[in-house]
Amino acid sequence: MRILGIETSCDETAVAIVENGTKLLSNVVVSQIDIHKEFGGVVPEVAARSHIEVIIPIIEKALKESMLSWSDIDAISVTKGPGLVGSLLIGSLTARTLSVIKKKPLYGVHHVLGHVFANFITRKSDTLDINLPADAPQFPLLALIVSGGHSQLVLFKGFLDFELLGQTRDDAIGEAFDKVAKILGLPYPGGPSISKAAEKGDPSKYTFPDAKLDNPYEFSFSGLKTAVLRRVQQHIGESPDYPSHMIPERLNEADIADYAASFQEAAIKTLVNKTLGAYREFKPRSVVIAGGVAANSRLREMMRQTLPITIEYAPMELCTDNAAMIASLAYFQSLKVDSDDPFYLKVQPSLSINQAIL
Ligand code: KG4
Ligand code: ZN
Repeated sequence: MRILGIETSCDETAVAIVENGTKLLSNVVVSQIDIHKEFGGVVPEVAARSHIEVIIPIIEKALKESMLSWSDIDAISVTKGPGLVGSLLIGSLTARTLSVIKKKPLYGVHHVLGHVFANFITRKSDTLDINLPADAPQFPLLALIVSGGHSQLVLFKGFLDFELLGQTRDDAIGEAFDKVAKILGLPYPGGPSISKAAEKGDPSKYTFPDAKLDNPYEFSFSGLKTAVLRRVQQHIGESPDYPSHMIPERLNEADIADYAASFQEAAIKTLVNKTLGAYREFKPRSVVIAGGVAANSRLREMMRQTLPITIEYAPMELCTDNAAMIASLAYFQSLKVDSDDPFYLKVQPSLSINQAIL
């Protein structure tokens, strides 16, 4: 079964074709980073307009890349939530229209759950230049989901049989990277900027406290972000009411690198320790990391060093937002639930993972 996936939940317009949930036939991603950079973050209206401009050419490009035509496509899938409402609408209206015109079943899928399914893509057509893991993960599977909007530990007993162990109470991990990057004057998107600056910094220069929470699998990152802000204000001899946008000009490159490295170390240690705790309690056969922050090389390194299990990592381009994961999830969804009605599929900007396949 070949599924054409469409993803437009935030600032990437993406279309991919995946066979049987596991074989990548094409993967096209157009990022809006350059457009939003000057604003220091994603501007929702601008994001939606940019999706409109490129969605049709990207669908055509994905078909061309796979050397397939519409008659070879068995179904269409699209992210229905969570995400920015205007952005989600462009993808879903496109998918719904194509589903009616081309007479293909339609599957609306959950974006964050989709991130996990990027790890099941282990084969590709010969023409694609992408390094995939050799083996698919096994069940029970522990997934650490770390993106711009989510930090969650989820235990999977089967493809769509899962339990949310815990999630963030406040900021998501990617959001914390983005906010700390702003404090340090590093460009958007903050995650890759922090990770790059951290390469030249000393991760043990500053120590930041870990949030103490009753549920060992819950996360909290807003305290860490504030701790970095207070330490930097103290560093430049200013009080806590000193405006954060005036901080970067008072820091030199070495200071910025040390703060980036120390923050990254603290944030990643928390992720890895919680994953280790869940690994010990639930004894999964595989562990995966999913979402944009899974592209962080220090996270990959610390996971590898800390967990007593071999971890396969999805390639960077399938960690950040893409449509291959949306097409993969839709395949496994199609084995379990009916397709959606293209005349009624709604976008759900705040859709929880617990309602992913209702
Ligand atoms: O999954 P994603 O592409 O979009 C969402 O669904 O949110 O994740 C985006 C997040 C952003 O916060 C970005 O700063 C972060 O992933 N990110 C990273 C890295 N690459 C992207 N964070 C840390 N290190 C990276 N290398
Ligand atoms: Zn995402």
